[in-house]
Amino acid sequence: TRAWRGLIEEYRDRLPVSETTPVVTLLEGGTPLVPAQRVSALTGCEVYLKVEGANPTGSFKDRGMTMAISKAVEEGAKAVICASTGNTSASAAAYAVRAGLTCAVLVPRGKIAMGKLAQALVHGATLLQVEGSFDDCLEMTRKLSENYPIALVNSVNPYRLQGQKTAAFEIVDTLGGAPDIHCIPVGNAGNISAYWMGYQEYGTSPRMFGFQASGSAPIVNGAPVTHPHTIATAIRIGNPASWQLAEAARDESGGVIQAVTDRQIAAAYKLLAQEEGVFVELASAASVAGLLHAHAQGLVEPGQRIVCTVTGNGLKDPDWAISGAPAPVTIPIDVHAAASALDLL
Ligand code: F0G
Repeated sequence: TRAWRGLIEEYRDRLPVSETTPVVTLLEGGTPLVPAQRVSALTGCEVYLKVEGANPTGSFKDRGMTMAISKAVEEGAKAVICASTGNTSASAAAYAVRAGLTCAVLVPRGKIAMGKLAQALVHGATLLQVEGSFDDCLEMTRKLSENYPIALVNSVNPYRLQGQKTAAFEIVDTLGGAPDIHCIPVGNAGNISAYWMGYQEYGTSPRMFGFQASGSAPIVNGAPVTHPHTIATAIRIGNPASWQLAEAARDESGGVIQAVTDRQIAAAYKLLAQEEGVFVELASAASVAGLLHAHAQGLVEPGQRIVCTVTGNGLKDPDWAISGAPAPVTIPIDVHAAASALDLL
């Protein structure tokens, strides 16, 4: 075995790059596909977690960003911009540093997790907090990139999906074939579209199961949501940019796009942390919440091989993690006090 070279080098022949494309990489991709023991037992299936929180900035966005930033540099851009619920901005900020570009990000004020805010700031991005939703931010960002010399790196940039499709390649390469079902959270709907593209390019066709938060479920409802709400701020999106592509992925694969409640998302988050040892962010838990939901509805035959993408690292949102946990006990420097507090006496 040799060292992982980043996804552009690993899958160069399947990506729109040439020998002269300047590859901007943090060696993203090559993430773990972890067997999910508890979720497998609960469903009677062979379930794996594609742990995208193991990417350099802690989410799957790095897959799209290595492509989008490399192509932006190739095309002569000096500055990039994105709208974000947090992870895209964290990734864009880091890859912009790597490429020597300036980076601007528009985020919905008060609706992004603290770790993501920290990442954009520490990488020196210019961060504007908009008094509106992600959808408002994306509309503004599109207009800015049309009218000013600044390149858009949201997933409406086609290079983003090209990079993100490599996660499907990795899964097929690792399992020696596609899963029967692939479960994935849906926000702006780029990632489900990218996976479907990747699976198809590999000549495979798992059923794509996408899950939105019930307060932010435009595709499930069949209409945009003006005031989306959910605890899973990463997927708090009311008018997804890749809506049609996501519906095509669902329909062509014989899949579903369903809603899961915040309660189901929080329960899956806790299950992953406490029974699988995998710390993900709330939005990521929507894939597992969705699988359990679909299983309860009888949509999942026993014995199926299933991959759930868990899209981002739990460390992104320490506030949520701490607020749901028991407060730590404080003790003096005293072994007896420690033993007592640990119920060892
Ligand atoms: N999970 C996480 C952790 C995300 O950050 C996102 C999207 C999704 C799932 C949904 O993926 O949009 O391709 O359907 N986050 C974007 C952002 C919107 O700005 O970071 P999608």
